[in-house]
Parts: sequence; structure tokens; C-alpha cells
Amino acid sequence: MSAFIVLGAQWGDEGKGKMTDYLAESADVIVRFQGGNNAGHTVEVGENQYKLHLVPSGVLYKDKLNVIGNGVVVDPKALFEELDYLKGVGVEVTPENLIISDRAQLIMPYHKILDVIKEKARGKNDIGTTGKGIGPCYTDKAERSGIRVCDLMHKEVFEAKLKDNLEAKNDIITKIYGGDALDFEAIYNEYLAYAERIRPFVKDISVEVYNNIKSGKNVLFEGAQGTLLDIDYGTYPYVTSSNTIAGGVCTGAGVGPTAITNAVGIAKAYTTRVGKGPFPTELFDATGDWIREKGHEYGVTTGRARRCGWLDLVILKTTARISGLTSFVVTKVDTLAGMEKVKICTGYKFDEKVIDYVPASLEDLAKCEPIYEEFDGWDESIENARSYDDIPENAKKYLKRIEEFTGTRISIVSVGPKRNQTMKIAEI
Ligand code: GDP
Ligand code: IMO
Ligand code: MG
Repeated sequence: MSAFIVLGAQWGDEGKGKMTDYLAESADVIVRFQGGNNAGHTVEVGENQYKLHLVPSGVLYKDKLNVIGNGVVVDPKALFEELDYLKGVGVEVTPENLIISDRAQLIMPYHKILDVIKEKARGKNDIGTTGKGIGPCYTDKAERSGIRVCDLMHKEVFEAKLKDNLEAKNDIITKIYGGDALDFEAIYNEYLAYAERIRPFVKDISVEVYNNIKSGKNVLFEGAQGTLLDIDYGTYPYVTSSNTIAGGVCTGAGVGPTAITNAVGIAKAYTTRVGKGPFPTELFDATGDWIREKGHEYGVTTGRARRCGWLDLVILKTTARISGLTSFVVTKVDTLAGMEKVKICTGYKFDEKVIDYVPASLEDLAKCEPIYEEFDGWDESIENARSYDDIPENAKKYLKRIEEFTGTRISIVSVGPKRNQTMKIAEI
């Protein structure tokens, strides 16, 4: 029996989709516990590439139960588009292999509009959100005016809540932002159609997850985004609106902390970030461009170019601490192949001191100067490595330094997007 978490250790896009798919082979249940379709998780199986946003990455196996937890914000339009896309590529998703929490919050059309117009109003201080309505939906959840999946199951409740919400949101959209009011009937009818389609999937997922753990099944919790996008521990306000760290599993899937056996942090061999916000090891030169092109660093959800920089061990150490990691998975070690020298940040110089944590204040973080250690590079042969012994010596030194600095072992090394380009070198 195990209940293990797979989470992003940096700013998202670390390869969580690939690693969830890889680790799901030994899992029975795969659970999303936060975020929504702002996530873009890529899984490659054979010659096929799948891009998943809301549906857990375990869906590509026929015999697994996939769960969308209460901590996830669900856009039913996006959900059914994704299910239709999956059907089109031969992946059948039914209430037999997917269940959705009755407590999950619904993303409504006004959330998406507010996301976009609020960003516009922020001007040069915009966050660079994905525009999927994530922030406004979590805002309503915290404000206690949100509409949940269970409300959609009761026509009259949904009607009343939609009326109340729409009145308030139309005021904001028209009076504050000068936008066009949304029509009640159109949204009501659209969502009633979703209600009938979603009904067979709806369950109290905490009960299902608990029973699975109790009966000795293996449960994998698939994180979205990453530690530095966490609403509490990320580079606030340049973050997403959910808890992306391990603690998010307890609240986002109704699981007690004592049930969790392992937490694996997925770390890219370098660092990337999409959207605005601080990034101490960012490269603004040809090396950054080289990494972006070699690593195909373009967003799965928005297509935006990802900002690229050196590996930052201050961030990985922070993730190991906050999420109580049992191990790291390091991905895209192949992308750095071919460089003569590679650098790792092993501390920030801040006010004449050296620190190994990420300061809360962005003003303080802006003063932090990364301290680098330089390593000799390795060659392209690494993408063919299938065991630890095959890894070039210089890459081994690089990986060893990650373990040493963070005090956390590396369990898996990934050297390409495919399932077989993955080496398990220690227990997770
Ligand atoms: P996620 O959001 O964490 O699931 O990551 P994304 O799917 O947004 O971005 C990771 C990208 O890197 C995807 O295109 C993966 O197919 C790819 N990928 C994952 N692991 C590796 C690896 O070890 N090497 C290479 N070259 N690509 C990888
Ligand atoms: P995965 O799961 C990378 C970023 C956005 C923006 C900020 C807030 O694929 O790793 P939001 O729409 O959530 O309000 O945007 O968070 N962001 C991501 N960056 N990977 C993601 O997901 C992200 N999801 C959100 O770019 O900076
Ligand atoms: Mg992604």
C-alpha cells in the first residue's frame, strides 16, 4: 500500500505528466488535487503524444481509476472538450475510469472574462495568467459564493446561485471594467446540458480515495504547477491561486497527512518559468535561447515561450523542505547535453550574507544574487542511457551535487520524453 505525491519542484512544466504516466504503471488510482485546466501535462506513449489539462495523466492506462478532487476548479466546457479529444485519439473515458468530486468548484463563463479583463487592468503589473478563469474561481471559493459540482446536480439550487452570482459579476464587468453583461438564460441552458453529462461521474471522492488506500491499493496524487507558483510559498503575487505543495493533497483530496507515504519532487535539470515574476537564475543571453529551442520550451496550454535559466538549488531545497520530499526525479538532463559548461546556483548573496531559502518579499528577492558552481558538460549519448552506469561521469557529478545540497536522494533520471527514456536509480 502506498499513497504518493508527484509534484512540481520549480515553476511548473517539469515533466509531471511524463512522470505521472511512468509511475502510474504501479498505481491503481491517480488523483488531481488542485489547479484546473491551467495545467498542461504532456505524455508520450510510443509514437503518440497526448496533452492533458484537467484529466489525470493515468487515463492512458485502461485499468486505472482517475479522480478529479475537490481542490480542483472544473471548467465543464474544457472538461468535455478534453474527453472528446481523448475519445478522438482512442482513449475512452467513462464513469468507470474517471470520477469527479461533488465538492469541486465550477469555473463559470464570468470567471474567464474576469481573469482576462483584470489582467488587462493590471497593465504592466499583470501576472501573465493562463486566462482560464482559475484565480476568479478560487476567489469565489474563498469568498463563499462559488458554485460547486453538487449544486449543478440540483436544478433549482444552481438556478438561484447562478442568478445571485451573475447579478454581482455583471455589475463588476459592466460598471468597473466597461465590459458587456452576460446573459443568464444562455449560461443556465449551457450548464444544464453539462449537468446531465457530468452526473454519472460525480462522487464523494474522499470516500473513494480513503477506501482505496485502506484496501491496500496504490494511490498517486498528480500535482499541477509547482512550488514557486504556490499561493503561500510561491513568488506571490506572481503565483497561481492554489496550494501546489504536498499539503494541498490533504485539503484538495480529503486525505489525512498520515496516509501519505512518499512525496516526489519533479525537477527539470535547469529552470523555466512562464508568465511574469522574479526568476533569479534567468538567462537573457544566447544560452537561454539555446536551452529554449533544444528543450522545446513553449507552453502546452498557452503556447507562450518559457523563460529559461540555470538550475537553482535554493528552490529545490525549499521544495524538499516544504513538501517533505522523499526523493527528486530529475528530467531533461538530455537537453543540457552538448554544452561545454553548465552552472548550478547553490545560494543567494543577500545583504552580505549567503542564504539558502527563498525570501518572501519580492523586494528582497530582487536583491538576491545567485552564487554559481560550474560543471563540465556531457554529450548527447545520455539520451540513450538506460541505467545509472550509462550516464556520463560529468552528468553524474551534476546529479550528485543536487542530492548533496538538498539532502534528498534522486530516485529517477529522465533523459527524453518517452516512457523508456527513464531510469529508476533508487527508491522513490
Ligand atoms: P508538466 O506540466 O510538468 O507535465 O510538463 P510539460 O508537459 O508542460 O512540459 C514538459 C515537456 O518536456 C513535455 O513536452 C515532455 O514531453 C518533455 N519531457 C519530459 N521529460 C523529458 C526529458 O527527460 N527529456 C526531454 N527532452 N523532454 C522531456
Ligand atoms: P503545469 O501543471 C507553468 C502560471 C501562469 C502564470 C501563473 C498564474 O503544466 O506545470 P493562472 O492561470 O494559474 O492564474 O496563472 O501561473 N501557470 C503555470 N506555469 N505550468 C503550469 O502548469 C502553470 N499553470 C499556471 O503562467 O504565471
Ligand atoms: Mg505543463
